[in-house]
Amino acid sequence: MRTKLVAGNWKMHGNLATNQALLNRVREASAGLSCGCAVCVPFPYLAQAQASLAGSKVAWGGQNVSEHGQGAYTGEVSAAMLVEFGCRYVLVGHSERRALYGETDAMVAAKFAAALQAGLTPILCVGETLAEREAGITGVVVTRQLDAVISASGISALGKAVLAYEPVWAIGTGKTASPQQAQDVHALIRARVAESDAAVAQGLQILYGGSVKPGNAQELFAMPDIDGGLIGGASLVADDFLAICSAA
Ligand code: 13P
Repeated sequence: MRTKLVAGNWKMHGNLATNQALLNRVREASAGLSCGCAVCVPFPYLAQAQASLAGSKVAWGGQNVSEHGQGAYTGEVSAAMLVEFGCRYVLVGHSERRALYGETDAMVAAKFAAALQAGLTPILCVGETLAEREAGITGVVVTRQLDAVISASGISALGKAVLAYEPVWAIGTGKTASPQQAQDVHALIRARVAESDAAVAQGLQILYGGSVKPGNAQELFAMPDIDGGLIGGASLVADDFLAICSAA
């Protein structure tokens, strides 16, 4: 039986004061949660997350990582640096990174490998755009994104990772994939992994992301291949994030 995980992706939001109020609430409520819980915060706030959440059930992580170990890469943050701040998770290949910062499948695969090598659990994000869905190539796109990582790191590496299916058209739009639409892609992803390793596929947590709210979380999380959520906007509101965690 896979346990559920709810991870917040704060994106580029927050400040020291609002973060502290949010972290305190999440920490207090976390003792009663039966799902896994994590927050992925902007780099400057990792120390704050660490100080606030250490010793609680809530894990924390970054939203991006360099594919390089160290060196002359101005503005980049290495996996080892994230480890120093107690991170357990790091998002890799979020669609905003792919679309706005030109991250290719190959770069995402290299970042995934760097995260794993440092002992982090990468949360690998995959998902199609609206045009790709309308063209009927959702499966092709998601499989291509997944296969890039499998061919670089091997199938067993997925056993140490989390996947997140985030249809780009559902992110920040208020337009959620229906539970069945999401389930179909989650099942496709699990089947693709099972072609290489049935046990890894069975154990793989596949999160759904894209306008998850307290009002739709329960029906999404009830689907057999949806193992929790990656939450954007609603993760910034303590009541909403905690309600979503309770749904899991
Ligand atoms: P929203 O929940 O705001 O749609 O964002 C989803 C997302 O991108 C999480 O990574």
